[in-house]
This record gives sequence, structure tokens and C-alpha cells, in this order.
Amino acid sequence: MIVVKFRVVAVVFFLNFLWTFVNCDVAVSCDLKENCILPCQFEPGPEEVIHWMKENIPVHSFYYNKDQLGNQDQRFKGRTSIFKDQISKGNASLLLRDVNFQDEGRYRCYTSTTRGNKELFIHLTVDVPVQKVYIEQSGESIICRSEGIYPEPTLTWSTDPESSSSIESKPSVQQNGQLYSISSSLTRSEIDAGLNYICTVSTKKSRRTATLFKLTTVTGSESERTIQCSDSKTPVTRFIWRFNHSQIIATQSEAGGSYTASEEWRPYVKSVSETGSLTLQNLSTDKKGIYTCELINVDETLIKNTFLQITEEKSNSNDIIIGVVVVGVVAVIAAVVLLLVCKNKTAKKNKNKDNKKNEKESTPAEKKSLKS
Ligand SMILES: *[C@@H]1O[C@H](CO)[C@@H](O)[C@H](O)[C@H]1NC(C)=O
Ligand SMILES: *[C@@H]1O[C@H](CO)[C@@H](O)[C@H](O)[C@H]1NC(C)=O
Ligand SMILES: *[C@@H]1O[C@H](CO)[C@@H](O)[C@H](O)[C@H]1NC(C)=O
Repeated sequence: MIVVKFRVVAVVFFLNFLWTFVNCDVAVSCDLKENCILPCQFEPGPEEVIHWMKENIPVHSFYYNKDQLGNQDQRFKGRTSIFKDQISKGNASLLLRDVNFQDEGRYRCYTSTTRGNKELFIHLTVDVPVQKVYIEQSGESIICRSEGIYPEPTLTWSTDPESSSSIESKPSVQQNGQLYSISSSLTRSEIDAGLNYICTVSTKKSRRTATLFKLTTVTGSESERTIQCSDSKTPVTRFIWRFNHSQIIATQSEAGGSYTASEEWRPYVKSVSETGSLTLQNLSTDKKGIYTCELINVDETLIKNTFLQITEEKSNSNDIIIGVVVVGVVAVIAAVVLLLVCKNKTAKKNKNKDNKKNEKESTPAEKKSLKS
């Protein structure tokens, strides 16, 4: 009995599937607030009649060679049109402007000419693509989030280089009105400080990644130091440079634009290159800290933290003085050593001479005379 029931269910399921498949709704997805074309073709012929309906609600009609909008539903008012020059070619596609969530659903395109009629179904879904993915290190965890997305997005983590242990942090999803927010955080035990972390938020149609690079350390001196933002050689679109996660150093808000250094940092920012590298000047030890660059490209966000260690470099004149002193000391030591060696040698020689003298002149008579 149960088996039979199951079979019936299975067959119904299959038929349902087949129905949808044969019917073959055309799937169209459009971005919220954008214009959208719902495609519909028919065999060209005289006396065209076109009816666009959405689940039995009149959307747009055309016959007697003109638009017939008397029955049009209020919600489509002023937002629809058919391409008049295309109708004779068998193209009844509908232009729907300023798409909203209520427009989602199944549309019917009915066409008829003296040659016959036809029905087509179009399934419209509305998208709000992933705009921006935020990634940040907060305390000892890494947080990734994105918001204002439709339909429901997914979030995945990966590392560079790839690590053997996969990250299985379950993201939390929230819906506010129609739009979804998603976030996920990696706890301390899940983080390996030697890896770069990549977070990807995607829907069927859109996808963006954010990368948090591992902390690197560079050493600078009082004169100058360049901190790289990305290894890529392509010019950046937008970036923000920050100090110690708070102060803004410099920003660029459009591709090919010029950067703006903040008032406070202007004396220290020498330049920012096309690829986003920051060159600092007039460094002193109070500029030691974490420099963060956030780079926003067409489909990715890169975050790179660099710890800048400042060493105190002696200025040139000091070097010279030290040099002179060192050379002086060495010279004196050398002189003293030489002198001592010379003295020693002379002393030895003298001694030898004396000895020889003594040997030579050690005649009893002289000895006597010496004694006396
Ligand atoms: C129908 O017309 C629209 C508007 O000009 C066009 O975008 C679309 O490609 C046409 N479809 C075909 C199959 O030619
Ligand atoms: C920074 O250094 C430049 C030259 O290297 C110099 O002209 C400028 O006066 C310095 N600014 C400050 C605030 O020290
Ligand atoms: C910036 O951060 C570093 C390291 O955390 C700290 O040593 C330094 O004092 C901070 N600098 C300022 C100006 O806050």
C-alpha cells in the first residue's frame, strides 16, 4: 500500500517536473531598480495582437497597431513598453522599467496573428547583487560581512595558501524587509596567523570576495618608507589607508582620480602610487603602528595590515662625527701600539747590545772599573 502510494507520488512529481520542463518557462533575472527586457518571439504575420499578463493581471496589450493600456494594472503604469519597430519581425519583448520586488513572478506573453497564436511564459526574479564585502580583524577574531543582498546569499571562507583543515564556520543570515545580511566570524582557535583569509559572498548572479592579508612587518627610518598595498600591477579603483585602525591617512574614491591625504597626515604622505602603495616621509617613532590599506576593485576588497617598525637613524652629520671619532680612536690606539712595539724592540736591541757589549767588554779590568 505504502509502496503504491509512494509510486503515485513519484509519478505525480515526475509529471509536474515534466510539465514545467516542457512548458519551459524562460528565466529572467534583473537588478532591482534597473530596466528589464522580458523576451517573447512569435511567427511574424498580419494583425498582431499581444497581451502581456502577470498571473492574470494585465501588464501591457497591443492590437490595432497601437498600445492598449485601458486595462493595465496600476502597478505597471508608465513602466512598460513594447518595441514597435520589432513587432513586424515577430518580436513582442516587453521593456519593464524600474523593477521592484513585486514584479517577481510568472509572466504570460500571448501573441496572435492571422497565422495562429502562441503562449510563452517568463519567470522574472529580481536581484540585488553583492555590493561590498567587509572583512576585518577584531580582537582575536576575523569577521566577514555583507548586507543589502537579494536573494539569500552564501558565505564561504578559504585561505591562501590553502590550508588542510577546512573552515566550517556557519554564517548567520538576517532578513530586513526583502534584503539579506550575512556574516561569519572565525575565532582565535580557527585562525592561523601565517595565512591570508579570503571570504566570498555570492548569490547565483553576483559574487564578491574580501581578503585579509596576514600581518607583515616592515622597518622604516626617519627619511622614507613605502608600504605596498597589493602585489597586483593594475591601477586601483578606490582605496583607504588607515593608521592603527582609526586615523584616516589617505583616500581615493574613484578610479583614475587623485588621492586625498588627511590634514593630519599630509606632512608625512609623500605619495600614493597608481597601485595604491603609500610612501611616507619625515617618519619619527610616533608613526610606529599598524597601517591598513583597504582596496576596493570591481569584484573584490583587499585588506592589508602592515606593522611599521621605525628605527632611529642617525643623521649624516652625526655619522661623520662618529666616523671622525672612531678613526681618531683607532689612530691613537695604533700609534700607541706602534710606539710600544718600537719601544720594546729598541729596548730589546739595547739589551742585546748591552749584552754583547757586556760580553765584549767584560774584561776583568773593565769589570773592576765598573765596580768601582
Ligand atoms: C527584441 O527587441 C529587443 C528591443 O529592441 C531586443 O533587445 C531583443 O534582442 C529583440 N529580440 C530578438 C530575438 O531579436
Ligand atoms: C618633511 O620633509 C620634507 C623633505 O623631505 C621637508 O621639506 C618638509 O618640511 C618636512 N615636513 C615636516 C613637517 O617635517
Ligand atoms: C599605534 O599602535 C602601535 C602598536 O599597537 C602602538 O605601539 C602605537 O603607540 C600606536 N600609535 C598611536 C599614535 O596610537
